[in-house]
Amino acid sequence: MPRAIVRPDRPRASFPLKGQTVEQKRLLYSKEIIDRRVKALAEEISRDLKGREVVLIGVLKGAFIFLADLARYLKIPHTVDFVRLASYGAGTTSSGNITVTKDIETDIEGKDVVIVEDIIDTGTSIVFLQERLKERCPGSIKVCTLIDKKQRRERAVNADYVGFALDEGFIVGYGLDFDEKFRCLPAIYVIKEGNCDYSM
Ligand code: IMP
Ligand code: MG
Repeated sequence: MPRAIVRPDRPRASFPLKGQTVEQKRLLYSKEIIDRRVKALAEEISRDLKGREVVLIGVLKGAFIFLADLARYLKIPHTVDFVRLASYGAGTTSSGNITVTKDIETDIEGKDVVIVEDIIDTGTSIVFLQERLKERCPGSIKVCTLIDKKQRRERAVNADYVGFALDEGFIVGYGLDFDEKFRCLPAIYVIKEGNCDYSM
């Protein structure tokens, strides 16, 4: 495969990660910018759901770091649970085939659920999860996503809380992976953008 041409104006870094080094990632959202947005989202949620019985449902694995930060910035009492959906294989596009590999353990009937997701891309996963959770009769379901990636949207989704809106690009870091790698990077980086593949 030919090596990617990377525009010279882009800041990039290389991170040694468990013996692997990936070059040519473009910094998209710094640790500081993410932190500010997560705090603002938590304040918004705290205002909207004050006095309610709130359950945060994190979508594993990508949302684990986002949820941990969000939960600590929330100013209202809440409980936390997780669901794990499988749809992506080792590639960067959705298979469209969703299965639950770990369900929630909380009784959400009558409670106010906030789904905490890393990215909404095609929308398939979040629509699937909303439908499933609705069957358990929660009082309300809100969607909080760190990234709203609209370009490949196939299902209509109205996220109630959005950290960042992104047109395109495959991103990693802050919980997000590419083939299980890079979740622990503190900032978010683009590794694919248009025809330019930053993962090579
Ligand atoms: P959807 O069903 O197409 O909306 O897929 C959403 C899921 O795909 C997210 O929760 C992520 O786990 C994964 N995903 C989509 N885009 C990216 C990306 O740019 N980086 C990492 N994971 C992604
Ligand atoms: Mg996910």
